[in-house]
Amino acid sequence: MVYLTLILGAVLAECVNGRPPLPPLPMKDGCYLVSPEVEIFRVESEAVILYFPMFMRVLETRNIALPSAQYLITKNNGTEVTTYQGEGRVQQRNKQLWFLPAHASDSGEYTCTYRNETYCITGSIELYVYESSAADMEKLSYPVFTQVGEELDLRCPSLSYFNKTDRQIEWYKDSTPTTLQAARDSGKLMIPAIKRSHAGAYTCHLRVLINDQQYTVSRVILLNVQGTDPPITTTTTTTTTVPELSTNTDPMFSSSNTANTPLIPPPVIVSPLNGTIVESSHGSGMEIFCQVLTECHIADSTMVMWLVNGQSVESSYLERRAIQGGRRVTRVSERCQIELRLVVAVITEEDEQTELKCVTQNTGGRQEVVAKLQLEDHTFTWVVVAAVGMSCFLAVVSVFIYVLFKPKKNKKMDYFLARQSSTF
Ligand SMILES: *[C@@H]1O[C@H](CO)[C@@H](O)[C@H](O)[C@H]1NC(C)=O
Ligand SMILES: *[C@@H]1O[C@H](CO)[C@@H](O)[C@H](O)[C@H]1NC(C)=O
Ligand SMILES: *[C@@H]1O[C@H](CO)[C@@H](O)[C@H](O)[C@H]1NC(C)=O
Ligand SMILES: *[C@@H]1O[C@H](CO)[C@@H](O)[C@H](O)[C@H]1NC(C)=O
Repeated sequence: MVYLTLILGAVLAECVNGRPPLPPLPMKDGCYLVSPEVEIFRVESEAVILYFPMFMRVLETRNIALPSAQYLITKNNGTEVTTYQGEGRVQQRNKQLWFLPAHASDSGEYTCTYRNETYCITGSIELYVYESSAADMEKLSYPVFTQVGEELDLRCPSLSYFNKTDRQIEWYKDSTPTTLQAARDSGKLMIPAIKRSHAGAYTCHLRVLINDQQYTVSRVILLNVQGTDPPITTTTTTTTTVPELSTNTDPMFSSSNTANTPLIPPPVIVSPLNGTIVESSHGSGMEIFCQVLTECHIADSTMVMWLVNGQSVESSYLERRAIQGGRRVTRVSERCQIELRLVVAVITEEDEQTELKCVTQNTGGRQEVVAKLQLEDHTFTWVVVAAVGMSCFLAVVSVFIYVLFKPKKNKKMDYFLARQSSTF
């Protein structure tokens, strides 16, 4: 009877737990390996905070908390490994690496390692520090795509690790020195109705105080505007409206059905193929690239974006586990290829059949392809879950039968069993 109770207890514990265990992460040199973070691009002489968001999410979802563990951030350059102290120009503060300020020579790969005597897990991130923001606008800027007529709130991106003492973020457009009027409380730049002339590079500046020193942090947003401004209707005369009147002085955005401009072919998504099934096992990470071919002169204004179940990654249910980024443009013979990465830190059962859509659009047109997530050992997982569930049920039933038909000697035991069963 006591043994039976123990077995029942064990089975119940298993039943309550429910989920199959996560498969192990890949391993390298005795350390579990989390897939690389999306790389970051910054400018010299600004404060930079390096963090490992994907890595942290993996620790969180796998409940990896190592008491008395060491968390170490290092820079690996070939043979040398640099470690950091809690002071100096580059310092490790808790799980972040602070550059006060960053130098171009800080560019490189950084590794975080979390270990105790018996367990070790590691992640990595690539940092690029440019000498000036003009060096590589394409990489340094955050592209934002919008349509004529839309209302837009521009937020200065990637500032969450700074203590924003000064809530007022300054905004500049292109290289004009005058600041734009931003919302006082949120620091957002608001544009009520987008026009073609709003397109351009927006720089947001923030002054932060770290260890009693003042540093600058800036980000550049490249605003792309698609569509044409509505014609200015000053009169209501009956002259037939000329739909695509040459208001386009910008050749990049000239409409394709104007007779004297060359026809721009639509961007083509070369990968993934439409209807691709992405197989991934429960608990593992996943990454997928969207590769788009387009004309080079409109590559910068070509939108490429991942959607999760039709929603932006940031507003989808995957928001805590997925990041899109790493947009890069490379020349492929006469055309240009744009690549955008989507990384999911940990795949779980709820991701089964999730639709990942890559969308691209420019003046030539729009294209989208769909990929679906599928869990690799899906049927097996469910067989295991069903089997465990069934044995739980049988165990409970048989104990009940046993208790019912056995002459009762020990009241306490019955009470204990009844209590256990009721928690089930
Ligand atoms: C190290 O962490 C692992 C995983 O959490 C744990 O099982 C183990 O007991 C820890 N070892 C020491 C010496 O603390
Ligand atoms: C590695 O770092 C050292 C000193 O920090 C530097 O002198 C050396 O050039 C670096 N090597 C590479 C391959 O970048
Ligand atoms: C932000 O403020 C917290 C709390 O005072 C402090 O621990 C942390 O170091 C600060 N971070 C930065 C980047 O200044
Ligand atoms: C991919 O399939 C979807 C519907 O499943 C369709 O709307 C879309 O146009 C297709 N894209 C291409 C490039 O064929």
